[in-house]
Amino acid sequence: MSTSVLVHLLLERISWRKQPRVPEPDLVMESVVQASSFSQAGEDDGVLAFLYFYNALQITSLLQPGDRVLDLACGPAHQLVQVARLNPDVRFVGLDASPAMLECAQSTLARAHVSNVELMQGDMTRLMGLEDGSMDGVICTMSLHHLPDHAALCTTLREVRRVLKPQGRFYLVDFGRLKLLRTQRFFADDLRQPPQFTEDYFNSLRAAFSVEELSAAVAPLGPDVQRHVTVLAPFLMVFRSAFQRPMDPQTLQRAKAAFANLSAAHQGNFRSVASWFRASGYALPCDPD
Ligand SMILES: C[S@@+](CC[C@H](N)C(=O)[O-])C[C@H]1O[C@@H](n2cnc3c(N)ncnc32)[C@H](O)[C@@H]1O
Repeated sequence: MSTSVLVHLLLERISWRKQPRVPEPDLVMESVVQASSFSQAGEDDGVLAFLYFYNALQITSLLQPGDRVLDLACGPAHQLVQVARLNPDVRFVGLDASPAMLECAQSTLARAHVSNVELMQGDMTRLMGLEDGSMDGVICTMSLHHLPDHAALCTTLREVRRVLKPQGRFYLVDFGRLKLLRTQRFFADDLRQPPQFTEDYFNSLRAAFSVEELSAAVAPLGPDVQRHVTVLAPFLMVFRSAFQRPMDPQTLQRAKAAFANLSAAHQGNFRSVASWFRASGYALPCDPD
């Protein structure tokens, strides 16, 4: 970790100020330019590839063959591809409100030759067309901060509870609200991405819910859903069901092959994020390294 990152983490830790939440200027990512800029970041060589792989491993430990799993606000489906490849015996439904994103998602799935994912257009605050208790799992990565306010967040989580089976499992990762504007700016710029992505990421950090807001919204899912946050990465928060399936040898082999496909830089980023969460007591279900 560089000195400047450490300085910003320290400033965050000791600051008594708190930035107010600033909702995303584009709640649903309807612009084709924005959708394709975000989609590029999720490609194999894109800046988000290592994070999708990290999530995919954590999500895999929640799933069992035969499950039906909903990805809320799936965007361009890069997360779905990674998790669907690791779990070919699970059926996934990717839902998003943006036709431009769903078009990107369609092409991501076709290029990846993944066939266990179907897509649907819909609003995550009203899961129309999805029946009560119809899902074994619901996952949601980096999307809830696109909701307009806390009321919409609570409505969405109530919908999640409605569509989940009683023993259904849940995985949520989203940005954490940083306290300082200068820390938000620093972490957005630190990724050194093209301007469109950098501004989108900055807006996402500003729109992030606080850990207290997310915890309150997730609470109706019950005590089984646990919160994982770390001072080493206050810009990320994970909430997930406690259930943990041991990873079978075939899945582990697929995970190792996917890890080997990441670039050296992404492998390094993956190790970092895994070690930050491990230090806060949240380990990976396997070591693909
Ligand atoms: C930052 S992207 C994340 C996409 C994906 N989950 C990922 O990790 O790559 C946020 C997505 O949320 C979608 N979105 C925003 N509001 C929504 C809503 N009310 N219902 C469904 N999708 C929504 C946007 O269109 C966009 O695709």
